Amino acid sequence: MSQRADRSASARSPRVLAIESSCDETAAAVVEGSRVLSSVVRSQIEIHARFGGVVPELASRHHLGAVVPVVDEALARAGVELAALDALAVTEGPGLVGALLVGVQLGRGLALATGLPLVGVHHMEGHLFSALLGDEARPARPLEPHVALLVSGGHTELVDVAGLGRYRMLGATRDDAAGEAYDKVAKLLGLGYPGGPVIDALAAEGDPAAVSLPRAMADRSVLEFSFSGLKTAVRVHVDRHGQPGSRQALADLCASFQAAVVEVLVKKATQALRQAGRDRLHIVGGVAANRGLRLAAERAAQAHGFAFEAVPLRYCGDNAAMIAAAAAARLEAGFPVGVEVHTSLALDDPRMQAP
Ligand code: KG4
Ligand code: ZN
Repeated sequence: MSQRADRSASARSPRVLAIESSCDETAAAVVEGSRVLSSVVRSQIEIHARFGGVVPELASRHHLGAVVPVVDEALARAGVELAALDALAVTEGPGLVGALLVGVQLGRGLALATGLPLVGVHHMEGHLFSALLGDEARPARPLEPHVALLVSGGHTELVDVAGLGRYRMLGATRDDAAGEAYDKVAKLLGLGYPGGPVIDALAAEGDPAAVSLPRAMADRSVLEFSFSGLKTAVRVHVDRHGQPGSRQALADLCASFQAAVVEVLVKKATQALRQAGRDRLHIVGGVAANRGLRLAAERAAQAHGFAFEAVPLRYCGDNAAMIAAAAAARLEAGFPVGVEVHTSLALDDPRMQAP
């Protein structure tokens, strides 16, 4: 009996092993549908931190060293043998090509050796599924229509999610992504890489009204973002006043910067819900870990009467559980499988949609 026939006999969701290597995390995970059986993430942050950002060549090299042990660990922690899987999945893009290829080629090799189908997953569709993941701490969620605010190091997008593969881009950033703005401002202030967590922590000690900073694209009806002006405004402030001379001054500047980012993100997300006629907001991607953003979204949800539940921190940053869950959903819905490496495919590209 084939693996697929076994699965339908037991009527459980597809059991998938996924590999994620699009940027600076080497990750592998095993899921059943959106339920996580194991999720292993090996970060390269320490390797890139000294260069102030991700060095693509180093990322590829370190993925090469880490990927097999990480896959082994994910299988061991899940207590699952390769033979007990229904499918394999891999992030096919967008991302750094050399980094992506490490995961893709291991996925292809495993598919060849096992005869299992290999599902290529769009990294941002993976992030969409991070909001649905369940584990011993919480049940998995079904995919319901919602608006997703995707905020990561490379993306800032508002997407209307009608269902699997039914994505409509409502707005995106015209320049820097939100995470990129955090990373650039942190560099400017000598806070190292990545910038998000350290600015987030400092912001908690500061006064968000201390420094007046611009809110770009303030017109509520426009669902586009721009963060490069905000970054420049922080630079101009530092040029004029010098680097913050005390921890309090630094915290005040971080709090003011964070308030400007968060205010725009939450206002636009609220407007997007209105325009799309949805009553559920998901915030996903690395920046979804931001404490100020989570709090502001919870407050907006109460004030405007929409559903919002923050994604667990362990699934905000890059991980393979979200990739595996997206693959499981694609398999269950009968989407075609196959891998096509890409660096800039939009989520609403026709190739993402149901057949
Ligand atoms: O999704 P992700 O792990 O990788 C990409 O696909 O880009 O996102 C990484 C980004 C980085 O720019 C990092 O500074 C940001 O997420 N980030 C945060 C926080 N934690 C990570 N930004 C704001 N606040 C945080 N707590
Ligand atoms: Zn990501």
